[in-house]
Amino acid sequence: MAEPAPAPAVAAAAATVLEPVAAHAVAALAERSRDVVSTVLTHASVRRFAVDPVPDDVVSALEAALVRGPTSSALHSYTHVVVRDPERKRRIAQLAGDQPWIDHAPLLIVGCADLRRAREVTRGQGYRYTAHDLRMLISATADLTVGLQNASLVAQSLGFGTVLLGGVLNGSLEIATLLGLPPRVVPLVGLSVGRPLGDHWPAPRPRLPLPLLVHHEQWTLDADAERALLEAHDAATRERGDFEGRRIPWPAMGLGGEDPVPVGDYGWLEHTGRKQGRATWIAQGAKVDVDLPAQGLRVRSTGDADEPAT
Ligand SMILES: Cc1cc2nc3c(=O)[nH]c(=O)nc-3n(C[C@H](O)[C@H](O)[C@H](O)COP(=O)(O)O)c2cc1C
Repeated sequence: MAEPAPAPAVAAAAATVLEPVAAHAVAALAERSRDVVSTVLTHASVRRFAVDPVPDDVVSALEAALVRGPTSSALHSYTHVVVRDPERKRRIAQLAGDQPWIDHAPLLIVGCADLRRAREVTRGQGYRYTAHDLRMLISATADLTVGLQNASLVAQSLGFGTVLLGGVLNGSLEIATLLGLPPRVVPLVGLSVGRPLGDHWPAPRPRLPLPLLVHHEQWTLDADAERALLEAHDAATRERGDFEGRRIPWPAMGLGGEDPVPVGDYGWLEHTGRKQGRATWIAQGAKVDVDLPAQGLRVRSTGDADEPAT
């Protein structure tokens, strides 16, 4: 069995990214954190938060977690913005698709793809920047998500609830303006953090059956087996009423007429079909297509290069 790292080793690791006093505070916190396996296995997103602020030592632990994870090519192609100001949080809650829990949680981290820093460095070295293709956006997204998930696990291991926020992408341009971000630093995913209201932790939510999600060596699932597993999952969600109050309204489908699906037939299959078949999805995508270039991204699958650096 692996021994926990001794406190001095944790403090030394934290001190690679934090001031010494904060690093020691974080090492002290680590001593009373829950272990990784139980933290990961009992994960559940929290959307109801107490008003209590997140203490400074916990914020330091989150900051260290945001940056201590792996980063593709050591590029650090992310920048995170920690937001505690209530008015700024309230605006972001609206811009990220009217998500009230962003407003209610005392702390918000806005994870941004940073496609600016390495470009500035490249040009500063006198080279043409050649990395305008999709790979950089994908690796920056992976980088920032690694950081947010590590911060989420640290928060949960210390008794704080979290919810990841992909809705940030829908308001990316406006959120960038609100945060004063330079071009090419692009908000993509957020993380709300706070004590769960009434110390109530949601039970872990169901997942699709493991054989749908994890294969060994090769893809082994035939279409009939896949359908049977999906239908079994769907039936379980309908029996439990997992989507009560969360139904995607029929008008969002843009198909006209009355909703043809009775309450008892609305489960994971119908919900997923509606999520990915909404007419509104197309409009949001079109906004993102405009927003990202407006933030200076020139993402092309073929790639291109800047003019020679001056
Ligand atoms: C990339 C990503 C983006 C997400 N975006 C949102 C979001 O914008 N709002 C929200 O309330 N939850 C969001 N979630 C949380 C999911 O809804 C949640 O993880 C899922 O419903 C499963 O629930 P659980 O996390 O409690 O197990 C996101 C999760 C991920 C991984």
